[in-house]
Amino acid sequence: MRRSPDRPLGVSPATVSDYRELARRRLPRQLFDYVDGGAYEEATMRANVSDLERVLLRQRVMRDVSVREQATEVLGQQLSCPIVLGPVGLTGMMATRAEVQAARAAERAGVAFIESTVSICPIEEVAAATSRPPWFQLYVMRDRAYAEDLMARARAVGSPVLVLTIDLAVVGARHRDIRNGLGMTSSWGKLRRGFDLASHPHWIRTVALGGKPLTFGNLEKAVPEARSPSAFREWVDAQFDPSVTWKDIAWVREHWDGRLVVKGVLDVEDARQAAEVGVDGVVVSNHGGRQLDSVPSTVRALPEIADAVGERVEVLVDGGVRNGLDVVKMLALGARAVLIGRAWAWAVAGRGEAGVRHVLAVMKADIDVALGLTGCRSVNELDRSALVGGDGTVDSLLAGE
Ligand SMILES: Cc1cc2nc3c(=O)[nH]c(=O)nc-3n(C[C@H](O)[C@H](O)[C@H](O)COP(=O)(O)O)c2cc1C
Repeated sequence: MRRSPDRPLGVSPATVSDYRELARRRLPRQLFDYVDGGAYEEATMRANVSDLERVLLRQRVMRDVSVREQATEVLGQQLSCPIVLGPVGLTGMMATRAEVQAARAAERAGVAFIESTVSICPIEEVAAATSRPPWFQLYVMRDRAYAEDLMARARAVGSPVLVLTIDLAVVGARHRDIRNGLGMTSSWGKLRRGFDLASHPHWIRTVALGGKPLTFGNLEKAVPEARSPSAFREWVDAQFDPSVTWKDIAWVREHWDGRLVVKGVLDVEDARQAAEVGVDGVVVSNHGGRQLDSVPSTVRALPEIADAVGERVEVLVDGGVRNGLDVVKMLALGARAVLIGRAWAWAVAGRGEAGVRHVLAVMKADIDVALGLTGCRSVNELDRSALVGGDGTVDSLLAGE
């Protein structure tokens, strides 16, 4: 009997890990590893998850939690819960026009979707498919004129928030990508990658044929002759600008009059600088452990940053969030909202829009239970008193003491 690919464990997917397993079965290895992997020994990537697991919720009872509220305002946007789909490049390689599918799922769930600069679907296609315009993520590119054009495009579709990613001055090494020959231009490298793709007929049907064009939709004008993601690679690699400083925020402000958030802050001094130059928000992030390894997990970095700048800017966070309990922990530690990355990328790879909708619904249900059993009525009420050891240091929090 043919087993449905949606039942990887013999049962329906219930958690983000189940969607990860579905994605593993569906995707060519080079693509699964691209999403799943991190930089160097992946210690920070693992710590994002394991440190979050170590934070303990404080169970409270008999507090009348018959009304529990998740709706909240983030950067001027009303969200049904404090979750945002973070920018994940190349997702259109994981499922048919995946950015559109994910943005639709986000809209139906009442949360925001952030379109990555290096998406397959251009921002206009995503915006046309939804009535809630996506937020836009931008890198500080060497080609400033192109970056200005991208900001104009985001503005033209009504994007309310620009997320400027600032932790890519240089690019960390991802060993899995190297092992899979992602950078190899030799015929041998191409043959190996081609064999990997060809041995996944479902992917060939739904993405290689059904998801065309597989180009970087936001970058087509920059590299007009490029016809495949690998053809854009050189241009993208050359665009990361190591000379960027806080002064460049003024340039962004000249071209962007919406809300501005910087993503990739991990140190309290940088968070203070960000507040100083007048951004509206910071995303505490180590890029999902994909840039520098051996840096702190985001849950470890978050409390000090929230304490230092939380009154002046909105503090968002990402890294390792796999369920709604993780969301509640991040909020209790001072975040206003969390971004999810791999969680939605695996879901869209595993089951498209329905997968992303399901993951968001499960996270919302988790948040609801966590509110009820920590004795909180609203996500806006959450603070460290919802955590075991919440009145102590970060180390005591992580130890649940
Ligand atoms: C496959 C993949 C691609 C990503 N692409 C981008 C990107 O284009 N721009 C960006 O700012 N961050 C990018 N990120 C980082 C995410 O926005 C986010 O910081 C990270 O995934 C959070 O960790 P999590 O995956 O554990 O949730 C990417 C992450 C992954 C896993």
